[in-house]
Amino acid sequence: MGPRLRGDDTEFFDFHETCYEQPISTRSPLFVEAPAPMKIRKAVFPVAGLGTRVLPATKAMPKEMLTIVDKPLIQYVVDEAKEAGIEHFIFVTGRNKSVIEDHFDRMFELDATLAARGKKAEQEILARDQPAPGAMSFTRQQAPHGLGHAVWCARDIVGDEPFAVILPDELVLHAPGCLAQMIAAAEKLGDKSNLIAVEEVPAHLTHNYGICGVGPRHTRHGAMFEVDGMVEKPPKGTAPSNFSITGRYILQPEIFKILETQERGSGNEIQLTDAMIALAKTQSFYGVEFEGERHDCGSKAGFLRANIAYGMARDDLRDGLREEMKRYLEK
Ligand code: UTP
Repeated sequence: MGPRLRGDDTEFFDFHETCYEQPISTRSPLFVEAPAPMKIRKAVFPVAGLGTRVLPATKAMPKEMLTIVDKPLIQYVVDEAKEAGIEHFIFVTGRNKSVIEDHFDRMFELDATLAARGKKAEQEILARDQPAPGAMSFTRQQAPHGLGHAVWCARDIVGDEPFAVILPDELVLHAPGCLAQMIAAAEKLGDKSNLIAVEEVPAHLTHNYGICGVGPRHTRHGAMFEVDGMVEKPPKGTAPSNFSITGRYILQPEIFKILETQERGSGNEIQLTDAMIALAKTQSFYGVEFEGERHDCGSKAGFLRANIAYGMARDDLRDGLREEMKRYLEK
């Protein structure tokens, strides 16, 4: 099948027509009327990477602790997961990452000092970000063998249920958050469906991303389509579409069996995309075109852009930031 870029909707409309002529039993799973709802209780946060693109910042400090405005990246994604109804937060960590665990712990000295000084607002910020006891698990990826390997390290804590994966270096600025949008999409699908958050990228840059092919879609299910093949970093000119796979996934536990024997792929790493390609042979995958602006905070330029965007989105900072930027640009 040739490339299907956005705007090439003819096939979707043809598909739509065909579906309504078919008896319901032969329709695509997108048309199942009352699927059993899928409950997503756990989210995996792979945080064991080296963050080489933002060195030297990440020499001794985890990339996931870089701050956007006044919060570390990891706090943004945990908040996004909480908002989406996630009950258990699983971190796949590595060397030099223990400060992530500390960030979610109670700091008694700090609490006591803030209380003694009457700093109620600051105390409330700490209390707001405090996870419930027992709601977090930490496991170790001893060496950064790739995202697929990091996800596999969480297999025993996830167990036999569908789960979310969130990459902390990608933020989506939107309310409701990206994961909440995906879970709402998942609720319209049957059991054993997998979902990936997708975003359009310029066609000449597709070789830098995991790309998915675009299958049938239907507006009744919002901005969601059946994934028709996936490929990690396709050579220039061969991408099946310009929809890139971004850092939010809802996966079925069968992915772990595949990851167990998954060979190294692009970049000599065990790639999650390769395991998803294998799982797509037996289970459905859907691409969710989420609402909101995605920020790649794992690159220096993306990190700076995110700081401006998140600052400008804050009522308490917007005017001051605008003023500072104006003064800087007028220099
Ligand atoms: P990235 O590829 O963006 O992160 O992985 P990286 O490898 O840390 O960064 P660079 O490319 O060297 O700058 C996305 C997420 O997956 C985690 C990373 O910590 C990051 O949050 N990851 C990646 C792992 O947990 N283990 C790995 O082996 C690779």
